[in-house]
Amino acid sequence: MTSADAPQASLIESDGDAASGPEVVYDAAVLRRQVQRLRRYLDRAYPDSHVFYALKACYLAPVVRRLVDLGCGLEIMSSGERAVAAALGVEGERIVWNGPALDVTTLERIVDRGEWVNVDSRSVFDRLVHIARARGRTVEAGVRLNLSGEGKLGVAPDEIGACLDEPSVSIVGVHFHHGAAGHDVDDWVDGRLRMLDVAMRWEREAGVTLRYVDLGGGLQARIELGEQLDPIIERLWDLRSVPRLFVEPGAFLVGPAATATTRVVTIKTVGGRRWAITDLGASFLVPLDRARFEVESARQNEPGSVSVAGPFCYEADVIARDRSLDIQEGDRLTIHDCGAYTASMMSGFGAVPPRLRWRSVRGVEPIGAADPARHWMAAQGYEPDCSGP
Ligand SMILES: Cc1ncc(COP(=O)(O)O)c(C=O)c1O
Repeated sequence: MTSADAPQASLIESDGDAASGPEVVYDAAVLRRQVQRLRRYLDRAYPDSHVFYALKACYLAPVVRRLVDLGCGLEIMSSGERAVAAALGVEGERIVWNGPALDVTTLERIVDRGEWVNVDSRSVFDRLVHIARARGRTVEAGVRLNLSGEGKLGVAPDEIGACLDEPSVSIVGVHFHHGAAGHDVDDWVDGRLRMLDVAMRWEREAGVTLRYVDLGGGLQARIELGEQLDPIIERLWDLRSVPRLFVEPGAFLVGPAATATTRVVTIKTVGGRRWAITDLGASFLVPLDRARFEVESARQNEPGSVSVAGPFCYEADVIARDRSLDIQEGDRLTIHDCGAYTASMMSGFGAVPPRLRWRSVRGVEPIGAADPARHWMAAQGYEPDCSGP
């Protein structure tokens, strides 16, 4: 072989070498930090507050187990998620249910197990009435409000008026979570204040006594909690009762806990835009409208505008657009804050799953088998039995 035939050091190997493939590490210490941060704030701000981790944000067994060990209850939406809760011994008042598709069987189990539930429609409320009458007792429920008159989630405040007079179902909670609220904190605060206005009207006009106020999710990890929560806590004191305060953080708890590393396989320029194509893309880094992935390059000599994308043949497979970074082919990039709505929404598309790892005081260990052909919860060590109690 002549030297011209020899492989060049700069060529990127494409042999699927597992050791150089993408990897995501979940850090137990960061989960602990986030829970403690929230608990410290709540314990100072309000007498009776409860954290329900929004399970859909990440199902990975060590992650959820750690959050439960740190005292979090679980916010859930399906029998499958209930099976995860059961596997971890979480039950009763440590569970709050949301979701627009709760059928009669699911609602019966919720009622019989003494779990909290926020109804999402008049129809679900009527199912609870049916169950309460069949059981010959009053059933308690919260109401998820729709305050915008848009979208599919929640009950419009005027729709719930008649329900407040129903003797068999007692409205004891109010809930607001706007799925697409994104990162706009003013919007978030405004929605919760309007929810409290509705609750105060219920107290005044329908004699409702609230047992809880549920702020939903949407807590932001990158700002001071007080910036987001102080105005709500202040207004809570205007209620007649002193209800429990529920929060349902997902991204706040698990987002910062995961860090991915990925390799830049190709650099290309199209229409003046420079692209870095990596081996980790939207099959893991799901581009939800609220997702903003922080990309870091170890190389910091000459930053220039570059967009970072994954390896898939569809245009939504973009991790970051027009960032100022110094990136060359072969570099490894670090993607911060990617623990929320990634492993739980991950698909097998392209059959290039990242290796998932768990860092704790015991060191770094693999998490389950990131096998795209298997059901996620089963792959992570749960045995979801969605059929029975
Ligand atoms: C009802 C409900 N609560 C809480 C959350 C968690 O939201 P986040 O991850 O933004 O905190 C979600 C997620 O969409 C949700 O649907």
